[in-house]
Amino acid sequence: MSTPLTIRLARLEDANDITAIIREPDVVPRLASETVETTRAHVAAQLARCLADDSHRVYVAQDDTGRVMGYVAVHWLPYLIHSGPEGYVSELFVHSEARGQGLGKRLLDVVIQEARERGGSRLQLVNFRTRESYQRGFYTQAGWEERPDAASFVLPLL
Ligand SMILES: CC(C)(COP(=O)(O)OP(=O)(O)OC[C@H]1O[C@@H](n2cnc3c(N)ncnc32)[C@H](O)[C@@H]1OP(=O)(O)O)[C@@H](O)C(=O)NCCC(=O)NCCS
Repeated sequence: MSTPLTIRLARLEDANDITAIIREPDVVPRLASETVETTRAHVAAQLARCLADDSHRVYVAQDDTGRVMGYVAVHWLPYLIHSGPEGYVSELFVHSEARGQGLGKRLLDVVIQEARERGGSRLQLVNFRTRESYQRGFYTQAGWEERPDAASFVLPLL
């Protein structure tokens, strides 16, 4: 039986492994149009911003060789209408070689634990309906509720 992966806070050196995860074809397909160096550069730059600011957290799961096989990013938003911060889970990705073994659930549990420690009011995320994770009910099985009354909007700027 393989050793369970260890979850820890991300470090800048994790940028390479995170790049490999998000460049898998079914994770962020549009990244195929840029070079791996470009992806690595923006991962490293955004990770550095997260590490420098307590309102952002990135957790990674590493195997016993130190390779990062999954990560979650959460951003603590001080909504004026809530008594505690709302956590926005912007990214949760597990390498295809490590999926279906409970790692995604463990990474979410770490975020929920941090939310409790921060006196958080709520967590939220966007899960595209085209994703296998949505179709297999990954978040509803973990207790998350899909909001029937809210539409998700974006204003593309690039
Ligand atoms: C969704 C994801 C984070 C779940 O992590 P995981 O470690 O595979 O999940 P766990 O082992 O903790 O939980 C198992 C559940 O995950 C989902 N899951 C498992 N393998 C999956 C896969 N290859 N693709 C998508 N979802 C999968 C299923 O809902 C599964 O439950 P089921 O077996 O009852 O159908 C991970 O599979 C992944 O990164 N998928 C691709 C990208 C993605 O959809 N990310 C979420 C963006 S919001």
